[in-house]
Amino acid sequence: MASASYDARRGELTTYFDRTAVEAWSRLTSDAPVSRIRATVRAGRDAMRATLLSWLPADMTGLRLLDAGCGTGALSVEAARRGAEVVAIDVSPTLIGLAQERLPAIAGAGRIDFRVGDMLDPGLGRFDHVVAMDSLIHYRAADIARALAVLGARTDGSVLFTVAPRTALLTVMHAVGKFFPRGDRSPAIVPVTEGGLRRRIASEKALDPFAWTQSHRINSGFYLSNAVALTRTLPPPADGTGSPAVPGVRP
Ligand SMILES: C[S@@+](CC[C@H](N)C(=O)[O-])C[C@H]1O[C@@H](n2cnc3c(N)ncnc32)[C@H](O)[C@@H]1O
Repeated sequence: MASASYDARRGELTTYFDRTAVEAWSRLTSDAPVSRIRATVRAGRDAMRATLLSWLPADMTGLRLLDAGCGTGALSVEAARRGAEVVAIDVSPTLIGLAQERLPAIAGAGRIDFRVGDMLDPGLGRFDHVVAMDSLIHYRAADIARALAVLGARTDGSVLFTVAPRTALLTVMHAVGKFFPRGDRSPAIVPVTEGGLRRRIASEKALDPFAWTQSHRINSGFYLSNAVALTRTLPPPADGTGSPAVPGVRP
């Protein structure tokens, strides 16, 4: 069950990504010229997408991938090109519309099922891999861990996600960011410490079968984000709850 703060934040993000920032987001995710500030963000995001994709199998034929908070769908397209059956979901109907408009022809078996809605919707089914690129960065640490637990319980392979690292530099950048022209501001992101995030993940029972296997920081001008891979090390239980299959692991 998602918390009230998760639901409230999702509502704010829907307004932001469906109305306030649609133009800016459409431009940032295209090849159109952008400000110098945004060019650093675009380069950072390209590097982040490449990092996350490098942690997924080269051949994804027959594998189900959830692109959780897919935006305009760039990562979904790359996964589909590898043969994945992608469910690409976003709370912004406008961004989903844009993703569908931009969808190139995909050669091979890969396909993308675009949906408008919440990434935690249980109706989406089970996945081999889940990627949440820069979509959980807007939520409180407790809600990030809860969302990862919900997603993990439905995932047989790995859950890849990004968080905004809480560093002194980022704190300064946020302060400086307040002086940016309105159009260059992003919605509030919630920086988290790695230690705090690890503790919260460790306290989520549904994530017991997962190990923190990789992390990588991308720092490109005004883009600073940490990628993390949680990889399933124990099979899901037959009852589909996502809890450890090993008896006695936890009282
Ligand atoms: C910063 S954008 C990143 C989009 C995309 N992953 C990318 O990297 O290009 C964050 C996206 O997450 C979406 N989002 C936020 N919370 C969501 C939720 N609970 N369910 C689905 N989408 C969500 C927003 O609408 C927005 O499009």
